[in-house]
Amino acid sequence: MLLLRTKNCVQIRAKRIVSCCSLLATFALCLAALSPCVHAETGTEAWLRYSALDREAAKRYSRLPQQVVLLGDSPVLKNAQGELLRGVSRMLGREITSRTGSPSENAFVLGTLADLHATAPALHPPRELGPDAYWLKKARLSGHDCIIVTAATDRGVLYGVFALLSKIARVEDVASPDELQQPYAPIRWVNQWDNLDGRIERGYGGPSIFFADGRVREDLIRAGEYARLLASIGINGCTINNVNADPHVLDQTFLAQASHIADVFRPWGVRLALSVDLSSPKVLGDLDTFDPLDPRVAEWWKKKVDSVYQLIPDFAGFVVKADSEGRSGPSAYNRTHADAANVIARALKPHRGVVFYRAFVYNHHLDWRDLKNDRAKAAYDNFHPLDGTFDDNAIVQIKNGPIDFQVREPVSPLFGGLPHTNEAIEMQITQEYTGQQRHLCFLVPMWKEVLDFDLHADSAKKDGGATPVKDLVAGRVFHRPTGGFAGVANVGMDAPWMGSPMAMANLFGFGRLAWNPNLSAETIVDQWTRLTFGNDPLVVKTIDAMQLNSWHVYESYTGPLGVGTLTNITGNHYDPGPQSSEENGWGQWHRADHAGLGMDRTVASGTGYIGQYSPAVQKLFESLAACPDNLLLFFHHVTYGYVLHSGKTVMQHVYDSHYEGTDRARDFISQWKTLQGHVDEERFRDILGRFEYQASEAVVWRDAICNWFYAMSGIPDEKGRVGKMPDH
Ligand code: GCU
Repeated sequence: MLLLRTKNCVQIRAKRIVSCCSLLATFALCLAALSPCVHAETGTEAWLRYSALDREAAKRYSRLPQQVVLLGDSPVLKNAQGELLRGVSRMLGREITSRTGSPSENAFVLGTLADLHATAPALHPPRELGPDAYWLKKARLSGHDCIIVTAATDRGVLYGVFALLSKIARVEDVASPDELQQPYAPIRWVNQWDNLDGRIERGYGGPSIFFADGRVREDLIRAGEYARLLASIGINGCTINNVNADPHVLDQTFLAQASHIADVFRPWGVRLALSVDLSSPKVLGDLDTFDPLDPRVAEWWKKKVDSVYQLIPDFAGFVVKADSEGRSGPSAYNRTHADAANVIARALKPHRGVVFYRAFVYNHHLDWRDLKNDRAKAAYDNFHPLDGTFDDNAIVQIKNGPIDFQVREPVSPLFGGLPHTNEAIEMQITQEYTGQQRHLCFLVPMWKEVLDFDLHADSAKKDGGATPVKDLVAGRVFHRPTGGFAGVANVGMDAPWMGSPMAMANLFGFGRLAWNPNLSAETIVDQWTRLTFGNDPLVVKTIDAMQLNSWHVYESYTGPLGVGTLTNITGNHYDPGPQSSEENGWGQWHRADHAGLGMDRTVASGTGYIGQYSPAVQKLFESLAACPDNLLLFFHHVTYGYVLHSGKTVMQHVYDSHYEGTDRARDFISQWKTLQGHVDEERFRDILGRFEYQASEAVVWRDAICNWFYAMSGIPDEKGRVGKMPDH
């Protein structure tokens, strides 16, 4: 098998040498085409494997054009062309010739609409193409049948090429396309939490691809490969450093280094951004203050930003974490978060940059003895009163839930509380609280629930129209100029980027949802599986189902009923640690004692958090009768004997769910084993090892949590499992 593939690759390579591409481009393409043949499948190619289709499938594409015509010559367009050549050659074993001008035979034609109109003035898309949108269209040009990939911008053309190749990899019909795809929102960014020393905060895929030893890496090949991956799922911006920002990212020497990363991003249409520390004007030694309303501070940001744009003309903007978890912030000068955001926004404005100001602001020294205190209220309390005071190029970046990326949280009420402010939703792709990539936990179903949740936010709208989170963040409900999606990705130098090839489904899924949140989790995972493991029906069915079930499985043996993840929150955020949430100021309390558990967040008797939602949503959560079981303990304090809608007591549910979840985690092993011989051996073994590990860790979780609650409640497990050793 390996021999055959190698031979095939050698043939491809030989043909390439006589192709009409420039010698250099040909050489690069040959290397790219050879790579899967000489390397084992490590997962590093993720969903861009372009593995050879079987003969039957390849036949469907036998009439595809053999020529590509490129209109224009920007680096982004050249990458689009190179990608098409690479993809078609690897998947179909066919060479395509390249030319400029007009097609001399049936051809793929790649170019912006403006350039296309020089050749085909009558060709018009059915709707206007917004920025980043693309149109795939079969049409006759210069007397030839052409597959046209066009867009308003070069980046859109690149996206269109990726979409076309994805269809071929999934054996979809591309004979006569007429498809216009428009992204849901302009902001589709990833955030990396990389430190300059090369470590990544909450990263589980090896060291930083950007930094080592306090500076930008000399070798940025992987950073460029990352940009390619991001482009293939429509991501157009990337913050490269930790939100807990080192002020020295704004040193001129560092900025000059960062510009090299921007250089490798740019040909993939990914714009570089930086996380910055609000106290930079002072910490970097230029001023004795960072008061956002001090004119010297405003001038400092202006000059600094101007110098950034001299080095990085397409710089995207900044992310700011302030007054949060020990970071400095505007409170030092009695100023508001809007004052802080705006001083930076104004410096960015002439360059069309944006500032993301994170709403993750809370007091981590809360008095846990006060039952009215509630960290969940913090974001809304801090930001809702400031609505309408942020500049138009400032975006408030809001975590999906009011606490911190727990396995289940309700939607943050703040999404509904900022009608006059740009918003972005922050979702965590890296699995900080959801198994750190060692446990399978496909997060798209969770994100879908969040994005589809109707906050009934538009009280002015009397027609009762829905205001789901996806529409709020995209700026559609309140007609905001910008907004969208930010995902904390934290890929690293490990071959499969996120540490596990299976976890890459979350990065893929984030990109797909940011592009189109109306896609179903089923569609997204199906695309990912086919692109990552091929189209074998057994493989697709098995992996799709495992991924789709995995969030519930993880939730059930960690923290069910909305109680929180129950992990060690003062330590690694990974092991079981239910006690760690309590009796400290971090505010991730579940308030379990001998009588009951759960946070009373009701308006009637609790912290009043529920009052931050619109009346329709309050109704859903305030009463025990209406509150869904899966969020019960987030909103209510109940006894262990409280009977759920399911008919079980809370205590028995906790026991049962941990045992069921553990069994289901163990079943992943046998499900995966059915794929032996259907996926490559390297990834088969690697992933099998991960499932075996997960199954044993699930037992650790089950026993730790069940025993803890048994000790706390004194209520025995009806099924006699808890507290018994297996052979007793
Ligand atoms: C979590 C995470 C931190 C991170 C913080 C943030 O608390 O554990 O590492 O800095 O979120 O989002 O700012």
